[in-house]
Amino acid sequence: MRDICFVTGNQNKIIEVEKLIKNFKIISTKDLNFYDEIPETENTIKGNAFIKSSFIYNKFNINCFSDDSGLFINALGGEPGVRSARYASEISHTEKNINLVLKNLRGEEDRSAAFQTCICLIINGKISYFEGSVKGIITSKRLGSRGFGYDPIFIPEGYERSFAQMSLEEKNKISHRSIATKKLVNFLNQK
Ligand code: IMP
Repeated sequence: MRDICFVTGNQNKIIEVEKLIKNFKIISTKDLNFYDEIPETENTIKGNAFIKSSFIYNKFNINCFSDDSGLFINALGGEPGVRSARYASEISHTEKNINLVLKNLRGEEDRSAAFQTCICLIINGKISYFEGSVKGIITSKRLGSRGFGYDPIFIPEGYERSFAQMSLEEKNKISHRSIATKKLVNFLNQK
């Protein structure tokens, strides 16, 4: 079976995708003895996904893919967007990030937002992108305790509960990441 590297430090993401991809063996950057953080210097999630994949492709000459996601809030001009992990401080801090979003949206009527994911795949030098997004609204306070990141303040369109009030299974049926991942999996399973 051919190897393909998922460029991520998040083992949970690897386990999730591993279950779905049939004809490639997923390896991690740790399997390549690579432990550095690749600087995400672009101002789009697509750009950052490309940076991570191209870095590993060029360094190790191995087929690979990477993902990048963010929360885009319309009334904040798309913020926190590409800076979602580090919105409130240089060191990623979920509670501070949520507090800052709620503060910046105080009194704001337009609470519409979307989570977006972009996956960049490089196979034999050929680059493909797979995108997923889910629209929703930002609540005025935290709801629920599951999930991670901005889940407690995001209610997806057509629902009355936040991502943090849903089971992982329920969230995965509609999430930005799972939409993009399904597209990637379909593509790879035909290769
Ligand atoms: P990543 O690119 O998947 O690491 O996502 C970057 C940041 O976006 C995370 O640190 C979170 O703050 C936020 N984010 C991405 N996906 C989600 C999600 O599904 N729920 C909540 N926050 C998310």
